[in-house]
Amino acid sequence: MAGTTSTAYVRFEEWTGRRDVPTLGTNTGAPTLPFQGWRRFKEAFAPELVRMAIEEVGNVQKVIDPFGGSGTTALAAQFLGARPSTIEVNPFLADLIEAKICRYEIDKVVSGFTAVVDKAYGKSRDPAELLLHAPPTFIEPGVAGRYLFSKDVAARFCAYRSAIGTVEDLATRRLLGVLLGATAVPASNALVSGKGRRYRRRWKEAPINPDVIDTMFEQGVLSALFDLRRFEARRCCDYEVLRGDARIRLTEVEPADIAIFSPPYPNSFDYTDVYNIELWMMGYLNSAKENRELRKSTLRSHVQIKRDLSAARPASGSLLEQTLKSLEEVRAALWDQNIPPMIAAYFDDVGDILKGLSSRLRERGRVYMVVGDSRYAGIDVPVAAILAEQAESWGFELVRSEPFRSMRASPQQGGGRELSETLVVLARV
Ligand SMILES: C[S@@+](CC[C@H](N)C(=O)[O-])C[C@H]1O[C@@H](n2cnc3c(N)ncnc32)[C@H](O)[C@@H]1O
Repeated sequence: MAGTTSTAYVRFEEWTGRRDVPTLGTNTGAPTLPFQGWRRFKEAFAPELVRMAIEEVGNVQKVIDPFGGSGTTALAAQFLGARPSTIEVNPFLADLIEAKICRYEIDKVVSGFTAVVDKAYGKSRDPAELLLHAPPTFIEPGVAGRYLFSKDVAARFCAYRSAIGTVEDLATRRLLGVLLGATAVPASNALVSGKGRRYRRRWKEAPINPDVIDTMFEQGVLSALFDLRRFEARRCCDYEVLRGDARIRLTEVEPADIAIFSPPYPNSFDYTDVYNIELWMMGYLNSAKENRELRKSTLRSHVQIKRDLSAARPASGSLLEQTLKSLEEVRAALWDQNIPPMIAAYFDDVGDILKGLSSRLRERGRVYMVVGDSRYAGIDVPVAAILAEQAESWGFELVRSEPFRSMRASPQQGGGRELSETLVVLARV
């Protein structure tokens, strides 16, 4: 029609393809999607879960995710035309999320990238300055002959890091930083999984060549540019990313219609550990104290650090009380004596998040949360059932609790024995 312009938006299905995912939980087993391969994040759930939730509720304008991770909810919401508000405590992951969902002037990204390559390709910069406070195991000579990066690899990495630091455009600088960060683990002498970090076999005999950083960074940027350009016209281009502890920052997020998220599971998996290499190598962490502070800001789902594990007493006769009692009975057999109080603290924290959400969501607004059970010394911690029982005390009613048919054990469970993952749907009363 004359005088009108129509925008052709890129559809959600163009991003995900029409695929059959074995489960909408955190172990989709599906090949990596555009954006999601920038830094593989095994604990991500399927974007189709976000579509299902948004379509089920209808007329969703705004979505909250208090545990952003790799940004699945935020990115899927943009494709579906809803404005995402995301919180993420891990600063590397928060930058990864924002790098995926912010707007770019592609010309600026291209010229920033070219300037960085001109300054850093094949060059070295003494790591002593940028990585002065990194743990001694990071850079050769390391400790007892073991180190994550040879001096040459660290020097090439630092050449890029300092070149990226000179890029003027903030969005470009963040994007290039995230993509350089994504080269850190593959360029290290270690393998990282949900179970922790271990050295590669024969890492000393077959050392990493510093040139892999040039190659991986260049490939990473070209492939990200392709995703950004191809999926630029999403129905919503706006967003809010809050960095820090969701238990504190939730009061600041914009009111919304729905919250779609997956909190860490109470399985002693510490995300700060898993992303420790990127956090130090990219300068998000500069002292042991900062590392401790970051860990303390995470949900109380692990026992790796000494921290306050105090929690409210569970209601008498509740499933949580019974579970804590059973854990106390096997305390001597637990690999860490703090597991029972950690479990109590976990439900205290998740309860605080739900209470916070009940004041950010509109009436009858919904929560879609993917949670996973845990097991310690043969005692099951039935997370979904405990949450369902307590939902009312946090201002919600249970709509449904739907176990996922998981093909394998979830990555959040360390890939070990099968434990169930459940979608818990709540409505604000
Ligand atoms: C299971 S992952 C979320 C995965 C996400 N749904 C996705 O698809 O990528 C949980 C996330 O919560 C973050 N987290 C842990 N404690 C937090 C806290 N107190 N505040 C905000 N984020 C936190 C972790 O860093 C991690 O990225």
